[in-house]
Amino acid sequence: MTKYSLRNHNTFGLDVSAERFLEYSSEEELLELLRGGQVTVPFLHIGGGSNLLFTQDYPGTILHSCIKGIELLSEDLDSVRVRVGAGTVWDDFVRYCVEHGWQGVENLSLIPGEVGAAAVQNIGAYGMEVKDSIVRVETIDIHGRKATYRTEDCAYSYRHSLFKQSEMKSVFITYVEFRLNKVPRYVLDYAALTKALETYPQITLKAIRETVIRIRQDKLPDPQLIGNAGSFFMNPVVTHQQFETLQRLYPGIPHYDAPSGVKIPAGWLIEQCGWKGKSLGSAAVYEKQALVLVNQGGATGVDIVRLGQAVQKSVKEKFGINIQPEVMYI
Ligand code: EPU
Repeated sequence: MTKYSLRNHNTFGLDVSAERFLEYSSEEELLELLRGGQVTVPFLHIGGGSNLLFTQDYPGTILHSCIKGIELLSEDLDSVRVRVGAGTVWDDFVRYCVEHGWQGVENLSLIPGEVGAAAVQNIGAYGMEVKDSIVRVETIDIHGRKATYRTEDCAYSYRHSLFKQSEMKSVFITYVEFRLNKVPRYVLDYAALTKALETYPQITLKAIRETVIRIRQDKLPDPQLIGNAGSFFMNPVVTHQQFETLQRLYPGIPHYDAPSGVKIPAGWLIEQCGWKGKSLGSAAVYEKQALVLVNQGGATGVDIVRLGQAVQKSVKEKFGINIQPEVMYI
């Protein structure tokens, strides 16, 4: 059987392949694939491939949703409810919301990937997380059974959800329902965003979207030009006691309050270890944001894993903190 190239399905641009690649454009098409026995084991459902690190060729079936579209379900004075196909490009959805004056996802402008994966990953940026706009998630499992999960049942937390747990690997998101505000409740607690917005006479959804796009384009590499998967690690949370010890040693250490302790930007920890702009073979730590690992061209997944491990080791040795990948290793 000819193998299917995944080069255009992972934003690291890794030259890997799968035995089989199946796409579907409706729930009915997915059910047909499942009934027809085409989804052979092992299988993996992907979105835009912007959070995946393939360490080898995938020895099975890759599934990808092309269920697209934004359907207005209801509207009242304050809010709208919309049902969005999991295969819709995330930023197309954000643009649509901003154009319609619907507030709730504008700080998440320009995040790569698709709507289904956004709900799996609980994407977040500039003080906002997608879970706060999600109402329900619709799924079909490998046996063709439909289910609906309310947000409170999705175990959402920082870059995590029920759908990331291993027992949910055979549950595929088909639609995500969002509630968006018609009366804006802007989220402006990220200092660089508030500062950049000072140049606008008035804060609007459009101004926020434009500003977020500008900040991202300044700091983050465009995956079309340099292979990457955004933040490679999650920002670690340490205890208050650990933090006080670190702050005595590094008085300038940036930090944020987190529900279970103090969150420290992993990008800062990595930069302090001297990794910013450094490379190991064809894999490198991005020169403008140390939390991002990049494929400088021709890197393999293993090269990127090696660099990630070297970075983790340095951070552990210098600060005693274990940083964990945000990116999913396959
Ligand atoms: N910093 C450094 N050196 C660096 C990078 C960061 O010192 O090379 C320090 C700076 O003090 C900076 C602080 O870290 O003020 C925070 O950096 P930044 O605002 O760039 O955010 P981040 O914590 O590195 C997180 C998300 C990003 C999201 C931004 C903005 C995670 C894992 N990453 O990054 O999400 O865009 O905040 O809200 O939480 C992604 O998940 O792929 C992603 C890009």
